[in-house]
Amino acid sequence: MKANPAGALSGQAILGRQREIAHLRRELEKKSVLLTAERRVGKTCVLRKMAENPSIGWTPILCWVESVRHPIECVERIYAEANALHVRSPKGVWLGRVKSAYQAIAGTQVAGWKLPPIRSEWKRLLHDLISDIAENTGNRVVVMIDEFPQMVSNIVDDHGGAAGREFLDTLREIRQEFEPSGRIRFLLSGSIGLHLIVQHLKAEHGYKGNPTNDMAIERLSGMTIEDVQLMCRKYLDEEGIRRDCPGEFDERMLQLTDGLPIYIQYVCERFQESKRQQVSPDDVDVELRAMMDNREIEWFRNAAERIETYYKRLGANRRASAILKMLSGEEDFVPEEAVLDYVRSQMIVEDDDQVRSTLEILLDDNYLLCDTSTGRRRYRFRYGIMRWWWKINRG
Ligand SMILES: Nc1ncnc2c1ncn2[C@@H]1O[C@H](COP(=O)(O)OP(=O)(O)O)[C@@H](O)[C@H]1O
Ligand SMILES: [Mg+2]
Repeated sequence: MKANPAGALSGQAILGRQREIAHLRRELEKKSVLLTAERRVGKTCVLRKMAENPSIGWTPILCWVESVRHPIECVERIYAEANALHVRSPKGVWLGRVKSAYQAIAGTQVAGWKLPPIRSEWKRLLHDLISDIAENTGNRVVVMIDEFPQMVSNIVDDHGGAAGREFLDTLREIRQEFEPSGRIRFLLSGSIGLHLIVQHLKAEHGYKGNPTNDMAIERLSGMTIEDVQLMCRKYLDEEGIRRDCPGEFDERMLQLTDGLPIYIQYVCERFQESKRQQVSPDDVDVELRAMMDNREIEWFRNAAERIETYYKRLGANRRASAILKMLSGEEDFVPEEAVLDYVRSQMIVEDDDQVRSTLEILLDDNYLLCDTSTGRRRYRFRYGIMRWWWKINRG
């Protein structure tokens, strides 16, 4: 199989992730799920694989909302996907309720969603749409919304904090109305942390709600060793590239890439393009090292830029930068006291709790890991490969 790093994958090209998908499905039996991870960890691939291979009794509706900037466009996306299902309801016309609500507002059949009266009635339309889906499908339905937090952030940017708050609250109310029947679940996925947006709404717009505290929060991370082995078989064995000591090779690949599929694909692509016939574990080191300053590869610039945007809004960017810079120089966990000392040496810290809360945000946002096995809090980068990049580019 040809490696296709950063490509839009579907079907057989999406490898592995069976274990993660099985886990998400078990959670969805119970409640809705918020799936989080850094950009490019493989969320979209997981959602697509789930949508392409639905489990028995479930109908998936997968929507992309990254470019959505008004709640009505979210209604539009879900409607379009639901409509495409062509599911006939036993009780009436599929999507009959939302269609008649639309007609009542616009005086016409569903055409576009941009008409001002339609936009301003987005709440009612969203409610009726979800109610149609929940009440009229034979199956249970999982509405999967990819890049959900990005959509909320866009809505806040364009229409203000009150609009973002209203959208989150409305969606939560709708979920709480229809989820107890067990017929509908939401799987919201996103790279930028929803908690950051919620924190901003709380700080700046008096938001009091907690839009996801009734959801399971699942974090996607690197591949299991079994999936790393599968990737190596597909991209190397199948392409006639022999691995010296395959066991050690796969372990090295896992260790150096943190099992992140995109970097495994990049390394394998380089092996494929250089027409190698044989590769050793050390070659993984060599290729990654050679790629580190390649600007065509989407390394962690995005995560670095986020410190200057979202973290700045929270007033935490300088503290976050200092913490990450310090930790990028340390392979092992660093005690919280040492982090505090370093930050204090770099800037005026009025209150240590400010630094602690920045550490918490960085943890929630997948930059860091915390270890408490020694009885005190110690931190390091979640991904070794991110630390490596950070040290070279931001250290
Ligand atoms: N299961 C997988 N099998 C093969 N490649 C994958 C898989 N998951 C992710 N990738 C690789 O990583 C890239 C980013 O994955 P994607 O699902 O778009 O991440 P995210 O949605 O988290 O940003 C893909 O373009 C692909 O190259
Ligand atoms: Mg994605």
